[in-house]
Amino acid sequence: MDLKNKVVVIAGATGGIGREITKAFAKEKVNLVLVARRKVILDSLKQETEKLGAKVDVFECDLTKSGSVEKFVSVLNKDHKQVDVLINAAGVGVYKPLPEIKLDEWQRSLEVNVTAPFLLIQKLLPLLKKSQKACVLSTGSGMGRVAMAKRSAYCTSKFALRGLMLSLAKEYKKTNIQFCHLTLGSVLTAFGPLSLEDKLASQKKGKKYLDPSWLAHTIVAKIKNDTLEDEVTIYPSHYFAESKKGKTALK
Ligand SMILES: NC(=O)c1ccc[n+]([C@@H]2O[C@H](COP(=O)([O-])OP(=O)(O)OC[C@H]3O[C@@H](n4cnc5c(N)ncnc54)[C@H](OP(=O)(O)O)[C@@H]3O)[C@@H](O)[C@H]2O)c1
Repeated sequence: MDLKNKVVVIAGATGGIGREITKAFAKEKVNLVLVARRKVILDSLKQETEKLGAKVDVFECDLTKSGSVEKFVSVLNKDHKQVDVLINAAGVGVYKPLPEIKLDEWQRSLEVNVTAPFLLIQKLLPLLKKSQKACVLSTGSGMGRVAMAKRSAYCTSKFALRGLMLSLAKEYKKTNIQFCHLTLGSVLTAFGPLSLEDKLASQKKGKKYLDPSWLAHTIVAKIKNDTLEDEVTIYPSHYFAESKKGKTALK
């Protein structure tokens, strides 16, 4: 896909992965539409990425609120005739044993990780259909393929997201829209219960993480070179070592 001037919507643009994907797309001189709740970060990302040559619109939007999503979609419809790329990179990670999961944490896990991508894809479908060749990519997890103890809320949401994306990949196979489920291992961001500092400390002790900037450039290159598949799996090397110990057995 020739990315220049394409309309690229990034949900979760303020996150560790979303921010790097935003910057990697900005270098391709696209029209960016950045979506998340934290307006201050959205505004600073806009400033940074406009310097790289992108046109940038930002939308403060809570993806768990259908009214907020409706408002975003209606403005998008006024401003753009089509959407070429939708990246679902918003997510929450509730890592807790069953008795400790509060109902609102369970609901938020499903709302942000599954219902929001569903709603965005459904609402943006008419604009995606207008693109010559569109692509929708959602950031799934290895925990959407392999169940893990004390991760039931997160695993449930990521198994469901994978089901959504792989079903849509089949449903839209012979159309202009390509769906891709990105199955990811650990990435060096502040996602989940551990802070970035905690993860940097673990990294020093040998734990392997994917670099979010490298990841972002890999994703953008795949979209640009038309090498995306229904599912793209990217794990840091240690996943396979752990799988041999039976911790995260990958089938
Ligand atoms: N990091 C990892 O190790 C890893 C591994 C596998 C998969 N993933 C997946 O990759 C995605 C991004 O992860 P990350 O590492 O970038 O996490 P992150 O740094 O914690 O970012 C999370 C993003 O989600 C957005 N978000 C959360 N709740 C929202 C809501 N109600 N409305 C709108 N936006 C919301 C946040 O934006 P605001 O707070 O500004 O709203 C932020 O942009 C997630 O889906 C995660 O499951 C991550």
